[in-house]
Amino acid sequence: MSARPVVVITGASMGIGRACAEAWARRGARLVLNARSVEPLNEAAKACRSLGGDSRAVPGDVREAKVQQALVDGALEHYGRLDVLVNNAGVGLYGAVSAMDLPMLREVFELNVVSVVSLTALALPALRASKGTVVMMSSIAGLVSMPRHGGYSATKFALEALSMSLRAELGAQKSGVRVCVVRPGLTETAFPRNARKAEGTDTRQGNAIPAMSAHEVAEATVRAVERGKPEVDLTAGGRALSTLARVSRPALRQLLVRIAPRMGVK
Ligand SMILES: NC(=O)c1ccc[n+]([C@@H]2O[C@H](COP(=O)([O-])OP(=O)(O)OC[C@H]3O[C@@H](n4cnc5c(N)ncnc54)[C@H](OP(=O)(O)O)[C@@H]3O)[C@@H](O)[C@H]2O)c1
Repeated sequence: MSARPVVVITGASMGIGRACAEAWARRGARLVLNARSVEPLNEAAKACRSLGGDSRAVPGDVREAKVQQALVDGALEHYGRLDVLVNNAGVGLYGAVSAMDLPMLREVFELNVVSVVSLTALALPALRASKGTVVMMSSIAGLVSMPRHGGYSATKFALEALSMSLRAELGAQKSGVRVCVVRPGLTETAFPRNARKAEGTDTRQGNAIPAMSAHEVAEATVRAVERGKPEVDLTAGGRALSTLARVSRPALRQLLVRIAPRMGVK
């Protein structure tokens, strides 16, 4: 990888995406940043330059093909290469499966899953050339689906499946491209406020789960890419749940029923 890697990050105007942009900027990276809100995105790009990186803002809805193309072109035309694609933009969806708001479910899948597939496909020729990395911002929700988070978790389970297949395909082709799945636990960002909720939906997250900072997630993400790690499980609670999901399905089922009332299931 280049000493000053070229990194494309979606959802970089706030939260985990912005923290990732700043973490790479401190290491001198050249960044192409995307989100829909122009002012906060420009602000993030400016902060990255003041931290020692170079940056360009590409505002727009990453679900649109022209925005995806502009991100890849932005890296190639301005920096001549692309080393890391961070598929970070994502939105939550709260509500019981039995009362799912289907337009919201489609909208969230379009961002959290479909746009990731199409942007990754567009970026792959450049990533093959650099033997770069695709980062998938999954979640502990990609391994365990909590009550009233089924719609959101379904998008992260989908991302996990796509990542697993993509890694095997790229490995079999000896492409040199890595896939790095990052699974934050609860992280202090505006994510709950930005999540889609059917009217009257209770947005409780369960009892006092300790949250981590976006900065911690970002540093772990950059280190994982630098070290070529395929997966990163963050937070002790997240690691415990992911272990439970792998080793004891009956215990996990019982736990989820027990915590359902605390998650707002009546
Ligand atoms: N926070 C958590 O507890 C947590 C835990 C595990 C995993 N994650 C995952 O981490 C990722 C980032 O979450 P976060 O907590 O940082 O959320 P956040 O603070 O709500 O930030 C989301 C980012 O995505 C952008 N975005 C939303 N819709 C977009 C669209 N259609 N096109 C382009 N950009 C879009 C937002 O900017 P605009 O609104 O300006 O577009 C913003 O920059 C998500 O994939 C999330 O699932 C979060």
